Amino acid sequence: MKKKIIIITCLICLIFLAGGVYIITSIKSATSELDLLIELYQVEILREHLLIQVKGAQSDFFLMGTHFAKSRDTVAANLEKIKKVSTACFECHHASNVKARLEKLNNDIDSYISSINKILNARGNRTLLIKESNIAFRISENVLAQINDMVHIANTKLAGRTDASLKDIADSKKILYALVGITPFIAAAVCLFFIRALTKPIKILLDATRSLKRGNFDYKIKGLKNEFGELATSFNGMSDSLNQTMHKIQESENRYRTLFESAGDAIFILETEGKNIGDILEANRAAADMHGISIEKLLTLNLIKDLDAPDASEQAQARLERILKGEKFKAELNHKKEDGTIFPVEVSASLLEYMGHKYILAIDRDVSERKEMENLILQSKLEWESTFNTITDVITIHDMDFNIIRANKAAEKMLGLPFLNLTKAKCYQYYHGKDFAPDECPSCECFRTGKQATFEIYEPHLDKFLEIRAMPRFDSNHQMIGLIHVVRDITEGKGVEAALQRTEQLKMVGEMAAGLAHEIKNPLAGIKGSLQCLVEEESISEEDRDLIVKSVEQIKRIELLIKGLLNFAKPPQLQLMLTDINDLLEKTISFSLKSPALASDSSTSIEVKKDFEPGIPETMADPMQLQQVFLNLMLNAIEAMPDGGILTVKTSYDAERSIIQVAIADTGKGMDKDVQEKIFQPFFTTKPKGSGLGLAITRRLIEQHGGDVCVESMLNKGTVFNISLQIQPEEKE
Ligand SMILES: Nc1ncnc2c1ncn2[C@@H]1O[C@H](COP(=O)(O)OP(=O)(O)OP(=O)(O)O)[C@@H](O)[C@H]1O
Ligand SMILES: [Mg+2]
Repeated sequence: MKKKIIIITCLICLIFLAGGVYIITSIKSATSELDLLIELYQVEILREHLLIQVKGAQSDFFLMGTHFAKSRDTVAANLEKIKKVSTACFECHHASNVKARLEKLNNDIDSYISSINKILNARGNRTLLIKESNIAFRISENVLAQINDMVHIANTKLAGRTDASLKDIADSKKILYALVGITPFIAAAVCLFFIRALTKPIKILLDATRSLKRGNFDYKIKGLKNEFGELATSFNGMSDSLNQTMHKIQESENRYRTLFESAGDAIFILETEGKNIGDILEANRAAADMHGISIEKLLTLNLIKDLDAPDASEQAQARLERILKGEKFKAELNHKKEDGTIFPVEVSASLLEYMGHKYILAIDRDVSERKEMENLILQSKLEWESTFNTITDVITIHDMDFNIIRANKAAEKMLGLPFLNLTKAKCYQYYHGKDFAPDECPSCECFRTGKQATFEIYEPHLDKFLEIRAMPRFDSNHQMIGLIHVVRDITEGKGVEAALQRTEQLKMVGEMAAGLAHEIKNPLAGIKGSLQCLVEEESISEEDRDLIVKSVEQIKRIELLIKGLLNFAKPPQLQLMLTDINDLLEKTISFSLKSPALASDSSTSIEVKKDFEPGIPETMADPMQLQQVFLNLMLNAIEAMPDGGILTVKTSYDAERSIIQVAIADTGKGMDKDVQEKIFQPFFTTKPKGSGLGLAITRRLIEQHGGDVCVESMLNKGTVFNISLQIQPEEKE
């Protein structure tokens, strides 16, 4: 196209240049033609002038000798003029033949002038005059004839020349008119050509771009050449690449659309601006199914106003603020279906920005089933825990390092586990009171064989006969990961005999005490009376008096012993009343500190620490008997600290089990295991003046109250007696 334009422009320029040259040349030739014509006409005039001059001279010649004859000077002047004119003829350029004719004419004119001059000079000579006149006449006639010929020839030539010149000028005019007339048409044709040449491909290109705009990416431009051809190739290339890109975009969109539609979770895209915040702009099939609403209808709803349950809707503002700040929000809340059913969903929402606009992307998962499962699991966990805790057998779960990682209530009670950090609770510490696994270790046996091991052992640490079943625990790969202890307290069964013996023993002691009381009491009273009378006698020496006083004191001791025996054998009936244990202990402490047992100097160094839990409910009990119990224990504690120490009295209340616990501890000499096993037996004492009935009576009185007493002691460290008393409400009386 560019080439075409250049060629056509050059052609037009050439045409115009040729036209211009032609016009200039025609004007120039016409002008020169006219100049020549003018010159020729001037020559013609000159010839005519010569003719007139010759004729004038001839006239002068003819008038000579008449009274019309002109003066000699006039004739000479006229001849001179002829000469001038004829000479002037030579000034022009002539062809050689013309030039020859002119020379001849000039010679003839010279002859004529000479002849006339001769005539003028030969006035007296008639013959010469006639002769010369004849010569002059002939010459003049000849000159005139020559001039006439010349004029005639020149006129003929001039007329031809003039006609030719006029014809040339007329031709040039015609060509000029033709040029002026044709040029607009040529220009219009050229313009039309250019317009057509330009508009046709532009139209094709325009059609192509429109087709592209309509989405027809397969459209191809054909039949264009040159630059438009290149443009068409580029366009076709562009449409190909657009086609490919569109295919890729289409594929990608289809992929994402499939993902979006086949997602199991509900996906929403929400508006974030203005009043429309929360409007659903996009929702997938799962969203529609989950809420029981068609997608078309979902797209007309607002998630917060129409899908959030009332409780979730109330907190929507705070949620939106967090999301709009860019926070990734995750929570469980309630949605409602079209029929009003409320169901739980797990929502995760975040802000997304697309094409400069912000949206909320919310993904909701229906967690109804999961919630149900969780509730079921929770329920079964609670059931399992309550079953686990209601089983009266002790159950403890251990890891491979002898750590108790779980224990039921019975275990907590028997082993005292609630006060422990279970991750560090070594089973041998709590079962056997040792810092290592003992020889007879059910766990070791179970670990060794990988099978259940059952042991029946007496555990002095717990003072119980236990049947321990150790069962291995395995993980899903059948690897042993620990074991379970199921422990049954068989002390009762094992201790029936001992209990019977003890009952028998007590019965015997009771009977003996009654017999002794009966048999010894009266004679002893007689002896005591007699000795007291003897003391009053003045005749006895002081030495004897001392002996009698000492004997009376020993009798009083025997009486006390008998009284204790009687008290132990046949304890008085319980006198139950509402009793405040803390109050009772307070009184007993002050009473015990006034006791004669503290007459020694050490009493001054006994420090009493009271750690009473406030608000312990009152219980139905016999305050006199409980005071007896507390007093026995406190006196024992004080007696165990001859060099002074700390007497700690602590109370606590287990509201869950309605049990009051009293601990009386000392920092005294303590007891070894052998002594600990015997201290509750009647008459067991390590003291020179002890009766050994204090703790036997204590246990009996506590058991009479439905309670329990036990001891923990370490040699040279101290001893603690723990009493557990079940709260007895007033109405149970
Ligand atoms: N707090 C204690 N510290 C060390 N040993 C104790 C303690 N309490 C009791 N015992 C031991 O238990 C034994 C029995 O005590 P129990 O109170 O039954 O009799 P007793 O104190 O020896 O005599 P009695 O109580 O008749 O004066 C004591 O002799 C003593 O060896
Ligand atoms: Mg005692």
